[in-house]
Amino acid sequence: MALLGAAACSSNHDKSVGGIGSGGDVGTAGSCSDAGTLYSRLGGDTGIQALVDAMTAAELADEEIKSYFFNQLATPVPAGHCTIAEMNACFAGYISVISQGLPANSPPTVSVDQGGTVVSYACKFFHIVHPPLSISGGTFDRYVTIASEALANASVSPCDIATIFGTINSTSRQNIVYGPLQDAGAQPYPGDAGADLGGQ
Ligand code: HEM
Repeated sequence: MALLGAAACSSNHDKSVGGIGSGGDVGTAGSCSDAGTLYSRLGGDTGIQALVDAMTAAELADEEIKSYFFNQLATPVPAGHCTIAEMNACFAGYISVISQGLPANSPPTVSVDQGGTVVSYACKFFHIVHPPLSISGGTFDRYVTIASEALANASVSPCDIATIFGTINSTSRQNIVYGPLQDAGAQPYPGDAGADLGGQ
């Protein structure tokens, strides 16, 4: 995965900071350990990509979480939806930025190897791709728990894991969880409450 610079993306620029998170002081040297910055402890862009790939593999091993990825698991992936490789590259680009303490004002554009051909993909805002999935607060928390376990299995320190998901929680949770389902428990897609609201 290589970042290609800021994406020209959706029209909702007023939501850009909340859409992908802002870096704050994440990743300053010594914040969790004296061994470099959060970005370097995660292994830079290459290490971060491997961690994100492992995180997504763990998510897809959970039947409840996997149910949300029906478009990604279809062959072919329907037009307008990202592939798993594109999603992972975008997710890694996001972690890369926040782990360097940089403001992530717009989604990155990434390059993705698709069957030997490298293509460019303009990542989308979180508040565009997630709300139509009716993700509840409980499902978000389940996703974070699974992701955290995957990072722990890859020897990321508990402190660094807390920093990463603390940032995601404070800057992006509201753009991922569907508002009316904020307090609903974890549920498979489309979720009982989602169905009550019209199946979203
Ligand atoms: C920890 C917080 C999360 C982050 C940082 C995150 C990040 C991302 C990113 C970067 C993309 C790619 C968007 C693009 O096409 O550019 C994406 C897409 C997606 N995410 Fe998340 N995500 C999070 C939580 C979740 C949760 C909790 C679920 C469901 C349980 C979920 C389900 C999906 C799905 C299904 C897509 C594909 C959407 C489509 O088909 O267009 N995500 N996410």
